[in-house]
Amino acid sequence: MSVLASAVPARRLPRAATLLAAQHQSSIAAVPRAAAIAICRARVLAARAASRRAGRAGAPPGAGTGPARAARMTTISLSLDTPELAQAYEHGSDRQFNHGKLLIETLGVRRGQRVLDVGAGTGRLAAHVAEIVGPEGSVTAIDPLPLRVDIARQKARVNLATAVGRAEDLSAFATKSFDVVYLNSVLHWLNDAQKQRAIAEAARVLKPGGKLGFSTGSREKPHQLEPIQRKVLADLGRDAQGNRPYKLTVDEVRALLERAGFIADTVEILTFVDHAADVDEILKHSGSSSFGNHLSHLTPEEKREVRERLAKELEALRTPQGIRLERNLIFAIAHTAGN
Ligand SMILES: C[S@@+](CC[C@H](N)C(=O)[O-])C[C@H]1O[C@@H](n2cnc3c(N)ncnc32)[C@H](O)[C@@H]1O
Repeated sequence: MSVLASAVPARRLPRAATLLAAQHQSSIAAVPRAAAIAICRARVLAARAASRRAGRAGAPPGAGTGPARAARMTTISLSLDTPELAQAYEHGSDRQFNHGKLLIETLGVRRGQRVLDVGAGTGRLAAHVAEIVGPEGSVTAIDPLPLRVDIARQKARVNLATAVGRAEDLSAFATKSFDVVYLNSVLHWLNDAQKQRAIAEAARVLKPGGKLGFSTGSREKPHQLEPIQRKVLADLGRDAQGNRPYKLTVDEVRALLERAGFIADTVEILTFVDHAADVDEILKHSGSSSFGNHLSHLTPEEKREVRERLAKELEALRTPQGIRLERNLIFAIAHTAGN
């Protein structure tokens, strides 16, 4: 699975992060870097303009404006995880792990720091961060899914602790006790009220001048699979809602951070490119990443039908490397006031 073809925020990324991005660059490698930057930036600006035209710009998360928000009736369940899904995530989450490493580079995590990984899943990224902070530092990894925390616990060591816990309730941790808090591919699983509590809690547990970083799905630039899947579901007469993530726009992310008192350093959309062997690999990844929520509103028969139709649609995206899909994430880095 190859990852990352983004140049949008390269100017603002630290050099190490830019190099990491370049190492993973795949499908747009043939596009001159300056041209790629211009294309991606133009797309982001266009998406922001569209978002403003739709009257959503600056609306605080949870404001419930617009028909899309009004129609949103689904909830994400934390009760659908299974041992198989948790293991599949542990062995098939290179995408999240690789963009997570980029997030950590961008945050500038360094030796000796106290770090909180919120929604750590099976703990792959937390273990990587434990290497960076070394024995003088520490990483605490929390996740609400006990099956995933069980796997993360196997990676525990002197400077890496794991626990079951949720982003919205960090009461287990003292005020001003961490240098860095991050959420990698987590925030879009929280509804608007939960997001606000999570970011407020992160602000509380961070030391003055402490850093918050997160990667999260972009609503203005959705995953390339989304419109294809929506069409397949519509053709079957099924709604496309299901238990799908609650994505935000760049402007909504900025509003969310400001509301909690954060000073935003970077809020940008990054475009990543993935290649998959076939539709089953894509569906397996979606199932394990969503801890069982993806397409969970369908019957087994409907799921089989969706798989068949998706397989046909996705063949149009096949390249010599596999089925090529673009994925867009908002990367946000912010800090609390203080020294
Ligand atoms: C796609 S996984 C990302 C896991 C990990 N951060 C990584 O980079 O591999 C999403 C994770 O978000 C977690 N999650 C869902 N709701 C959450 C909440 N309310 N608080 C904290 N984590 C949550 C899930 O349990 C799941 O492990």
